[in-house]
Amino acid sequence: MAVLKVNGVRREVEVDPSTPLLWVLREQLELTGTKFGCGIAQCGACTVRLNGQAIRSCVTPVAAVEGQDIQTIEGLAPGAGEHHPLQAAWIQHQVPQCGYCQSGQLMSAAALLERNPNPSDEDIDQAMDGNICRCGMYGRIKAAIKTAAAADPREAATGEATDE
Ligand code: FES
Ligand code: FES
Repeated sequence: MAVLKVNGVRREVEVDPSTPLLWVLREQLELTGTKFGCGIAQCGACTVRLNGQAIRSCVTPVAAVEGQDIQTIEGLAPGAGEHHPLQAAWIQHQVPQCGYCQSGQLMSAAALLERNPNPSDEDIDQAMDGNICRCGMYGRIKAAIKTAAAADPREAATGEATDE
């Protein structure tokens, strides 16, 4: 058995410890927003956050993440019916086309803004380099990240509104 903390909730799953986190999320926990693309850490479709950092869940065994903070796309918004600033910017810029890569893109972008609330073009290019979009929405993705950062860098970093 593995004990995971996913989107702030303790979850117990009966799996072999070597099972990739991606399959536990999708098959056991029914969190299907995280996608399978390549399975070899080359496309970014399976990106989730581990302790705030973007990781590829397709090559991460559950044994390596037990007890740590895992966040999936289902946990990105600050509350029910609300959007993370990145999600709002994604809508504003009409980023998604087929949508398949988008949860991975958003999780990588969220990790970027948490460690760097005001990223340069180069910072964005570097952080998003491993997330492939077959629909070629790279320009809109970059514009949306800049919009989210400009709206309020602290808000974009945490997903929570500030008082000021
Ligand atoms: S499915 Fe994990 S990086 Fe492609
Ligand atoms: S929106 Fe289709 S792959 Fe990115």
